[in-house]
Amino acid sequence: MAGIEAMVTTAQALVAPGRGILAADESTPTMTKRLAAVGVVSTEERRRRYRQLLFLTDGLSDVISGVILFDETARQRADDGTPFPRLLRRRGLIPGIKVDRGTTPLPCSPAERVTEGLDGLRDRFTEYAEMGLRFAKWRAVIRIGDGLPTPACIEANAHALARYAALAQEAGLVPVVEPEVLMDGAHTLERCAEVTEASLRAVYEQLARQGVVLEAGLLKPNMVLPGRECPRRATPAQVAVATIDVLRHVVPAAVPGVVFLSGGQTDEEATANLDALNRRAPQPWELSFSFGRALQAPVLRAWAGRDDSGHAAQAALRHRAALNGAARCGRYVPAMEDVTVGAAGR
Ligand code: 13P
Repeated sequence: MAGIEAMVTTAQALVAPGRGILAADESTPTMTKRLAAVGVVSTEERRRRYRQLLFLTDGLSDVISGVILFDETARQRADDGTPFPRLLRRRGLIPGIKVDRGTTPLPCSPAERVTEGLDGLRDRFTEYAEMGLRFAKWRAVIRIGDGLPTPACIEANAHALARYAALAQEAGLVPVVEPEVLMDGAHTLERCAEVTEASLRAVYEQLARQGVVLEAGLLKPNMVLPGRECPRRATPAQVAVATIDVLRHVVPAAVPGVVFLSGGQTDEEATANLDALNRRAPQPWELSFSFGRALQAPVLRAWAGRDDSGHAAQAALRHRAALNGAARCGRYVPAMEDVTVGAAGR
């Protein structure tokens, strides 16, 4: 397999101390929902302008190591004609790409979903490598409920994740393997821990079976949290202990880093939990982030599609990134939330 060393270097750079990933890879339907929530009608040009605003934020690479793109964005250009993947590299950001094609119900258990996108993926990877993309993401979703998840759901998704990861490495892209146990429901923290552990165990078994090089890949899991409707809430310290227990049981020490998704937590919750995790460092792997909503929610609110609000939106991104940079080192305190937006992160 070509380029293992280069992939190991990329994987390590993505989780370099103090840094993490910006997930800006919303599919068009998801981005359309996020834009509608701030009163913006989604067009290809508006999506391009919004993503350009993110990428041109001054100082972004102080904290952000890489950016995950959706296929549409990876083919778009900045105002000056520079393709976005090249623009990101010039600005010290590693460009990555979401390669799954969304989820579909499992025939044997229609309340659950399996992720699609393996057909033709080898050829897509060849093209993505030529476009300069250096890492790739695939998301699987696992739902907790009555009798859920089924072993069939866990196994089908683990198998697909390993198939994609092996193809990514064949093309020289670092796989970011994302099995997300959803927060939806009233389940306890302990139940989330049990399901997360079972799902990660299946994923690492499949990765081994399909010859994926652990040193050249990253894990993007959920944090271990109580379900959104669970009355018994958890403190950041409890979340950190439960999450690290699970990871230590099943994630091999050869994996360079774990980059958590935010999964519907508020910005503040995600940052506080990331901070609590890093207060328990050192662990065998870097404990970093690959946040979508927890980085972009305040940016979208500040931007709201207005021509004159670009600087405010970029200041909001710098601020949120700086707070997560502090959390990445276990040095975040909630009082930092109140620092005037624009002053932080520079
Ligand atoms: P959230 O942080 O919004 O969960 O998004 C991360 C992601 O990339 C989901 O696939």
